[in-house]
Amino acid sequence: MADKSMDGLNTFTDQGNESKVDTSKKMRVAIIGCGWIAENHVKSLLKQPDVEIVAGADLIPGKAASFMEKFGVEGAKTDYASHKELLADKSLKLDAVSICTYNRQHAGPAIDALNAGVHVLLEKPFTVTLDEAVEVMRAEKKSGKVLSIGFQPRMDANMKKIKEIVESGALGQIYYIQTGGGRRRGIPTPFGTTFIEDETAGIGALGDIGCYSLDMVLNAIGYPKPLTVSGYKSAFFGKDPNYSGYKKEKAAEYAQKFGVDDFAAAFVRLEGGIVLDFRIAWAMNLDTPGDTIIMGTKGSLRIPSTQCWNGTVGGPMKIYHEVAGSQVETEIPVITMKEGLFDLKIRTFLDACKNGTPAPVPSSQILYNQAIIDGIAKSAEAGREIEVVIPEI
Ligand SMILES: NC(=O)c1ccc[n+]([C@@H]2O[C@H](COP(=O)([O-])OP(=O)(O)OC[C@H]3O[C@@H](n4cnc5c(N)ncnc54)[C@H](O)[C@@H]3O)[C@@H](O)[C@H]2O)c1
Repeated sequence: MADKSMDGLNTFTDQGNESKVDTSKKMRVAIIGCGWIAENHVKSLLKQPDVEIVAGADLIPGKAASFMEKFGVEGAKTDYASHKELLADKSLKLDAVSICTYNRQHAGPAIDALNAGVHVLLEKPFTVTLDEAVEVMRAEKKSGKVLSIGFQPRMDANMKKIKEIVESGALGQIYYIQTGGGRRRGIPTPFGTTFIEDETAGIGALGDIGCYSLDMVLNAIGYPKPLTVSGYKSAFFGKDPNYSGYKKEKAAEYAQKFGVDDFAAAFVRLEGGIVLDFRIAWAMNLDTPGDTIIMGTKGSLRIPSTQCWNGTVGGPMKIYHEVAGSQVETEIPVITMKEGLFDLKIRTFLDACKNGTPAPVPSSQILYNQAIIDGIAKSAEAGREIEVVIPEI
């Protein structure tokens, strides 16, 4: 995959996967929720030679139709009042759906789609609560269909490198992890308030970008089970009509509607004696609450934070270790990608559906991600540490 020839200082180029796509059978795909992120789904789906976009649904009347028109998707059926109507339309002969609804509408449509016998690519975060994630996984188990969660940073060669470094043993035994990340002024209100209202989003920075932050480290270390969580969350910026990140003319409305968190922090104990120190912000009076670090008995890895925290690697990573008694640092060059992460997210999902192989981002892993998010919310509300209890699937 990775070309080891330097094409720039500290830069490697990932050559991507040149494998051929079998076009003998077209996958019939629908999009549920035709908002902002659905645009990336449709653009990537349109690039796939083995996909036919056959339908779309949105709660807002006419939105799915204008969405399909905007992207030149011809013949897609859109006259559905809800995702349930779309899933009940047997004439579609659906193979898969992209679920691009806001967080509070992740679990319901995912369960309905799995019950309808359709493969599901579900946008991140998995759900709002742990109980919802468990219900989705029960439907997944019953259906035998592929369920993949939309974490495109997983497709990044730099993220894969973090896991390779841990698995190489270069860090020894991992005992402490800090995930630092966040934005100075970055409460997302791109096209309205679906990210910041409780009834649509349910969780704020904690779930929106916190899920990436957790995935970056938990995937690298093999997703150990979370045991206890002591969490904190706040909303000082989002609820402030003078918050400078809002459009001036909308600030009062947004501040009044803001019903989620804009900052969260936690101390999490994981199976295997590992502790995780977590913090995430949509807004703060600071450049970054820290880089991500993974500390081990043989070496520690520093992963620079990015300004717009979205779960990517912000610069060359460094391993701090000891060689023959000397304290040394090894810089890991940044790998540039030839293929877009979103395209890879869609392609790997389609391949799993077609080949009957495991989901590229399996729910069995993201369940623990969700359990931590849920634990932080519950602990913050209770004002004390809580035990994480994951129901049987
Ligand atoms: N992977 C990424 O990089 C990325 C980026 C942005 C957003 N997201 C995620 O995507 C999701 C959607 O975000 P967005 O910015 O597109 O929001 P959005 O508000 O722009 O779009 C969501 C759309 O879903 C529709 N909808 C909600 N429930 C529905 C239902 N049951 N049936 C049909 N339509 C329904 C809404 O009417 C709306 O049009 C969020 O969960 C967000 O976290 C992921």
